[in-house]
Amino acid sequence: YRTAAVIPAAGRGVRLGPGAPKALRALGGTPMLIHAVRAMAASRAVSLVVVVAPPDGAPEVKNLLDEHALPERTDYLVVSGGDTRQESVRLGLDALPEDVSVVLVHDAARPLVPVDTVDAVIEAVRDGAPAVVPALPLADTVKEVEPGAPGEPEPVLGTPVRARLRAVQTPQGFDRDTLVRAHGAVAVDGEGATDDAGMVEQLGAPVVVVPGHEEAFKVTRPLDLVLAEAVLARRRA
Ligand code: CTP
Ligand code: MG
Repeated sequence: YRTAAVIPAAGRGVRLGPGAPKALRALGGTPMLIHAVRAMAASRAVSLVVVVAPPDGAPEVKNLLDEHALPERTDYLVVSGGDTRQESVRLGLDALPEDVSVVLVHDAARPLVPVDTVDAVIEAVRDGAPAVVPALPLADTVKEVEPGAPGEPEPVLGTPVRARLRAVQTPQGFDRDTLVRAHGAVAVDGEGATDDAGMVEQLGAPVVVVPGHEEAFKVTRPLDLVLAEAVLARRRA
C-alpha cells in the first residue's frame, strides 16, 4: 500500500440529536459511513481504508462493509475507536501496515466529499507537503469572545480579518511519519484535538491549505442532514 485513508467514525453525534451513532445514520437510505468509505475508495490512489468504528460497533461495521458494494481494488480494515476523535485517529494509525507512506484522515461525518478534492490532497502530499488541509474561505465574519454563561451576552475581544481565515475540512493528508509523530507528541487533553493538522502545527512542521469543496461540509446538526439529502438527490437526478 502506498496511500491509506483512516476514517474516524466512532463518535456518537450528540449534536445531531438522539438516535444511532452518527456514522451509522442513513443518508439516501445508505449509512453515512458507507458514503464516506466510497468517497475515499473512489480515489484510485487509495489502496486501503481503515474504518474506526464506535466502541462495540466493529462487528456491525464489518457487516455493513460486506453488505454494500465497494471497489475491489481497495482493502478494508475495521478497528474500534476511543473516547475522543484524537484517540480514534491514533487507533486507526496503529492499524496501518508498514508500507503505507501517505495517510488521509477523513471524518465519516463528511460523506459527500468529491473525489477531485481527495485527489488534490493526495497529490499535494506526494509533491512534498508533510501536511495538507482542504479548506474554504468563510461566509460569516468571526468574532473572538470571552465565553460566558449560556444565553448571557459575551464581551467581544476582537475581529480577525475574514479574508485571512479558512474553514478546514477533511480529508487531511499527511506524510505518515509526520502524523504518527504528531499523535505521539500531543497528549489527549479534555475533548482532545479536533484537527490533525493542528497537531502537526504543534510539532512545528509546515501545513498547507488547498481548496476544499462546499460538498465536503460536515454533518453536525439536524439541518446538515437536510442539506446532505438535498445534495444526494441532486446528484441522483
Ligand atoms: N469521532 C471518533 N471518535 C470519537 C469522536 C468523534 O471517531 N470519540 C469521529 C466522528 O465519528 C466523526 C468525526 O470524528 O466522523 C468528526 O467528529 P464530530 O463531527 O464531532 O462527530 P461526533 O463527535 O460524533 O459528534 P458530536 O461532537 O456532535 O457528538
Ligand atoms: Mg465531536
